[in-house]
Amino acid sequence: MSSQRILTGYRPTGKLHLGHWFGNLQNMLDLQNKYDAFYFLADWHALTSDWADTSKIRTYTEEMVLDWCAAGLDPDICTIYRQSDVPEVAELTLYFAMVTPMSWLERVPTYKEQRDQITDKDLGNVGFFEYPMLMAADIAILRSGLIPVGEDQLPHLELTREIVRRFNNAYPAEPPVLVEPKAVIATEGARVPGLDGRKMSKSYGNSIFISDDAETICKKAMTCLTDPARMLKTDPGNPDICPLHQIHKLILSKEDCFQWEEDCRTAKCGCVAHKKAFGSEMAEYYAPFREKRAELEKQPGFAAEVLANGARKARPIAIDTISACREAMLLDPFGA
Ligand code: ADP
Ligand code: TRP
Repeated sequence: MSSQRILTGYRPTGKLHLGHWFGNLQNMLDLQNKYDAFYFLADWHALTSDWADTSKIRTYTEEMVLDWCAAGLDPDICTIYRQSDVPEVAELTLYFAMVTPMSWLERVPTYKEQRDQITDKDLGNVGFFEYPMLMAADIAILRSGLIPVGEDQLPHLELTREIVRRFNNAYPAEPPVLVEPKAVIATEGARVPGLDGRKMSKSYGNSIFISDDAETICKKAMTCLTDPARMLKTDPGNPDICPLHQIHKLILSKEDCFQWEEDCRTAKCGCVAHKKAFGSEMAEYYAPFREKRAELEKQPGFAAEVLANGARKARPIAIDTISACREAMLLDPFGA
């Protein structure tokens, strides 16, 4: 196992879906055995969009810990913590606010995209605007070099690198105070489509959740978009642009995948039959997860204990980084 530190975070704004599972969680499972892995629940990030109704953030945080652990993250191997338990993140965000030009934040594509797509929440607040800067602070505070994320997060990673570079240039030290991170992207599933063909996202109402019961998974499968040009069962389809097949593919063996593609292109199999097979195979795929999840639910205080232990490991690193930042910025020690 390498001593190199890796880090990633999820916003506790809802349940885990297949996009998380294939886009990122599989990478996180693998990497926990290879690196010193830090995984956190970004509850302040949830606040940037859900500030008007904070009632669910804590529940989602606890549920996500259970989901993560049921999926196979092992709190004895990796560190699982909550962002707000490491307040040094807020201090570093403040310092980043000094070195980050507003234009850098204005041009982050996810900002405009989410302002356009999410219309049921007031996202005109400063906190949402500076979301990527808060993310940069999450990464920099633990000085982690590798960041496993889905493809949608790449612009945020690029911005983080720019902010870190600007900070290190403004406040030089040897070695530089902050580390420039690199993204680790899943080879398959870097962008899992949702039931409607857009990116699967809990904000878009197009998700299959991994905690959905078998019946719900099968029902949702029947609503999934397929190749829109294929009107009749006798029309040949194109699996490359079929969202159903793009998701199904993630659990298929190479041979089965090839067979489904053949049957679609030659109109041997219709979309309804494909949806049925997809639903029942997905439901079966998640059966062991549901069992483990039910077991963890029976252990009172499990999530709280995991987070308390995680904070004990993350905080000293954050304190060390923030001290180095203050020193480089000539803010500390007082009177020196
Ligand atoms: P959401 O978009 O549902 O709110 P998050 O922002 O909490 O999800 O995402 C947490 C992690 O999961 C990020 O690394 C993100 O890139 C990844 N992820 C989320 N949705 C998908 C998807 N549809 N495909 C691939 N990766 C995804
Ligand atoms: N921005 C990420 C998302 O929307 C969540 C996140 C917050 C994150 N801070 C992070 C991911 C730091 C990786 C590293 O999913």
